[in-house]
Amino acid sequence: MVYKSQAPGKLIIAGEHAVVYGYPALAAAVSLRSLVQLRPRKDRKQIFKSNIHDTKLLKLTVDTTFQFLKKTPTSGFSLVVKSDIPEGSGMGSSASIAAASTLTLLQFLKTKPDKEFLNKIVYEIEKEVHGTPSGLDNTTVVYGGVLAFKKKGENFRFNQLKSTSAVLAKFILVQSGKPRESTADMITNVALNVSENFHILKEIGRITSLFIQNTKRGVFEPELIRENQRLLEKLGVVGERAKSIVHSIEEIGGVAKVCGAGGIKKGSGILLTYHPQIEKIKTLAQKNKWNYFSVKLGVKGAQ
Ligand code: PMV
Repeated sequence: MVYKSQAPGKLIIAGEHAVVYGYPALAAAVSLRSLVQLRPRKDRKQIFKSNIHDTKLLKLTVDTTFQFLKKTPTSGFSLVVKSDIPEGSGMGSSASIAAASTLTLLQFLKTKPDKEFLNKIVYEIEKEVHGTPSGLDNTTVVYGGVLAFKKKGENFRFNQLKSTSAVLAKFILVQSGKPRESTADMITNVALNVSENFHILKEIGRITSLFIQNTKRGVFEPELIRENQRLLEKLGVVGERAKSIVHSIEEIGGVAKVCGAGGIKKGSGILLTYHPQIEKIKTLAQKNKWNYFSVKLGVKGAQ
């Protein structure tokens, strides 16, 4: 018997960092995936293989899941991960791998894979990996779709937005380079200056609320992406390379923003970019040799 599961990646359309402090965020599950296969073994060994991340994440996932279930299997197993989500670039690779791996473990231990329970386990793993995350990454990859999300203490409030496809179908993702810093480092950097930057987080919250209201009505205001990016720059989470890419895109009439924790020492991860004539961004990316790609937004969650 082989147990198979998969989970999508995610991207944050608006509200990163501010979401850690209880402000709203808008995020979408995207059509990059982690595929996981669990094969029981005759001996008691646990074998881990992954094409991205080291296998620490898989060991952590196994330990956390068994702690939640309060049981361990009597036989060993091999857990093999294949993921096409860029690692450490703001696309939820760790949450996706943790969600798909946990699902195979739940099947293996004959436990009903309930989404709420799965989300709790993956949030616990995310806390080990990222320090004090908001829970947005795990919730988005577990439930899928396009989510308006808010953290309320240790709980999450979210709803899946309907009929958003026309508004969100037009983004191109540009890689500004893998950040040197981890998500945990970036969350800590923001936390260190939180009292003087609180007005920035509040403003990100305001813009994100507008973005969510617009999206619900099928309206898209590119200007909000530009404003969100400026606030992230002020918050100190955007590096020079990303700023220069954003600037070039704005010069040709487009908008772009970081869509994750960001990074300042080198790359800032994936940038969400938009232009009313999207070909213009593709041409600019080719000219500058930027790595770019598109994904489908609002895909199914972990299954
Ligand atoms: O870079 P990512 O994909 O881990 O996204 C982090 C988003 C933050 O808002 C910075 C942190 C969080 O947990 O919401």
